[in-house]
Amino acid sequence: MMKKEIEKIGVFTSGGDAPGMNAAIRAVVRTAFHHRKEVFGIRRGYRGMIEGEFQKMGPRSVSNIIQRGGTILKTARSEEFFTKEGREKAYQSLKSHSIDALAAIGGDGTFRGALEFFEEFGIPAVGVPATIDNDLYGTDFTIGFDTAVNTALQSVDRIRDTAQSHDRIFLVEVMGRQAGFIGLAVGVSGGAEHILIPETKSDLDALCEEVRSWARKQKGSRIIIVSEGDELGGAAEIGRKIAEKMGIDYRVCVLGHTQRGGAPTAQDRILASLLGSVAVEALLDGETNVMVGEASRKVVRTPLRETWEKKKAIDERIVQLCGVLSG
Ligand code: F6P
Repeated sequence: MMKKEIEKIGVFTSGGDAPGMNAAIRAVVRTAFHHRKEVFGIRRGYRGMIEGEFQKMGPRSVSNIIQRGGTILKTARSEEFFTKEGREKAYQSLKSHSIDALAAIGGDGTFRGALEFFEEFGIPAVGVPATIDNDLYGTDFTIGFDTAVNTALQSVDRIRDTAQSHDRIFLVEVMGRQAGFIGLAVGVSGGAEHILIPETKSDLDALCEEVRSWARKQKGSRIIIVSEGDELGGAAEIGRKIAEKMGIDYRVCVLGHTQRGGAPTAQDRILASLLGSVAVEALLDGETNVMVGEASRKVVRTPLRETWEKKKAIDERIVQLCGVLSG
C-alpha cells in the first residue's frame, strides 16, 4: 500500500441523517487532533463541498455533541455532485483549502460519491457507516440503527397498550425503503404477530389466513410490522388490502422520520466513537476507498464498492423465530 502523508482531513455527513453522526464527527476531529492533523468540517455533504462551505474544527468545536441526534454539519442529497462539473467544482474547493483526504460519514450514496471522486481526482476517502437502515455490507451494525430500532420499539410498546385495550389489529410502518433490518429488529423485540420486510416473500392470502388464525386463538392486540419497502405496499395499503378481503377493523401508524431523530443510544455512541477514530487512523495509514466497520467485534476495512455491491444478509433465524413466538 502506498503511504501518503495526510495533513488536512475534510469530514462531512451526507445522505439521511442518523443518530450518532455527531459522535462520529467528534471522534474524527479529536483523533485527528491527537495525531496533530488539521480538520475541516464540510457542511451539507457534497453540496457544501461544491459550494465551499468549510469550517476549521478543533477539539472545542465538537464539545457537547456526543449526546445529540442529527448532525451539526448538516446533510443533503446533492444531484450536482453526480455530474462531472459538480465534482470538478468540489475538487477545486477542496484544493483551495489544501484538504488532502476525506472522512465520509453516511450510507451507500455517500460512499458511491466518494469512490467516484477518488477515481477522478485522487482524493483519498475512508467511509464511516452511518444510516439507520443498517444496509451496508462490511459491518454488523451501522451507526444510528440501534437508536432507530429503540425509538420505534417505544412506539410499538405504546401501540400495544391501546391495541390490547381495544382488541385491535395495528399495522405499524417502519423505515427501510430497500432493507428490512429495522422491521425485523423492531418486530421481534416488540413481539409482533407478523413482520413484512423486502427481503422475504410477502403473500397477501397467507397473511389473511394468519389474521384469521389470530381470531381463533383469541388474541387481543395484534401487531403487524411493515417495512416501508415491502412488496405488498406500505402499512395503509396493506391494511386496505386485508380489509377488502376480510372486512376487519384495523388502525395504521406510520412512524416515519421520528425514527431518524433523538439522542443516540450508548451502543451507537460507542460504535461512532470507535469507527470515527479508526477512520482517521486508516487515512493516516495511507488507506483509501475503504469503509471501516465492526464485524464479530473486530474492526474491519471493506473496499467501498463491496459495501453496496455485496448484500448483507438478514438473520434467517430471527425471521423463523417471529413465526414461532407469535403463537
Ligand atoms: O436514512 C434512510 C432512510 O431512512 C430510509 O429508510 C428512508 O426510506 C429514507 O431514508 C427516507 O429519507 P428522506 O426522507 O430523507 O428521503
